[in-house]
Amino acid sequence: MDRLKGQAALVTGASSGIGKATAIALAREGAKVVVNHPVAVTAKDADAVVNEINNDGGTAIALQADVSKENEVQAMFAEMVKQFGTIDVLVNNAGLQRDAAFKDMTLEQWKFVLDVNLTGQFLCAREAVREFLRRGFQPYSKSLGKIICMSSVHEVIPWAGHVNYAASKGGVMLFMKSIAQELAPMKIRVNSIGPGAIKTPINRSAWESPEALKSLLTLIPYERVGEPSDIGNAAVWLASDESEYVTGTTLFVDGGMTLYPGFATGG
Ligand code: BGC
Repeated sequence: MDRLKGQAALVTGASSGIGKATAIALAREGAKVVVNHPVAVTAKDADAVVNEINNDGGTAIALQADVSKENEVQAMFAEMVKQFGTIDVLVNNAGLQRDAAFKDMTLEQWKFVLDVNLTGQFLCAREAVREFLRRGFQPYSKSLGKIICMSSVHEVIPWAGHVNYAASKGGVMLFMKSIAQELAPMKIRVNSIGPGAIKTPINRSAWESPEALKSLLTLIPYERVGEPSDIGNAAVWLASDESEYVTGTTLFVDGGMTLYPGFATGG
């Protein structure tokens, strides 16, 4: 229950889906949580997450910032430090899809996905690292700071019709590993979670109808769609000292989706 007691966590894109579940899971372990959301219209959803955490005995605040904008990210970190004193755990979760056949994909669709999914992770991680270094070690954690990047099974599985998204997640993989290598001597740990198909608004069409669900399950050896809490639980472990010797790795939480399910019977 208290694995993150005394620590301050920021979860980007926490007004819905995986981010929401992660914010709730971290708060249950005693972390004070910033529930980031991107724009004015998502404020209501973010407030609902904050209320859920506070009503449950936790501590949370909502902060709006578009993670792809340097000035907004810097203002969010400044406000977090003002309210919570520092940051100990960053969950770089904000991400989106803008799908299109490759020949029809617009530059706008390409850039939007790369800006949020990859540049957003860079901007937030850089601010977090600056604050970890300023703050110094604290008695409540063996590491100076922890960064968890929300990647995807599509950091390794190519995805037709989603080239911008797969490229962004492939980018997240080497972004994460490279900063993990650079920051390990400073005792900053950086890891990714690679979710498979998790029941959230981003992929509703893939699990909502019985036909879609049946086809999706052929890609999941464990034969169930993931729940957002499956990812929240993994994030708690990666944020806690239980994983102190783990850095630079992607933990796939995917029911076996990365196990080449087609080869279970073929080949
Ligand atoms: C995507 C989902 C998809 C899942 C498995 C995720 O990263 O955002 O839309 O269902 O990967 O393909």
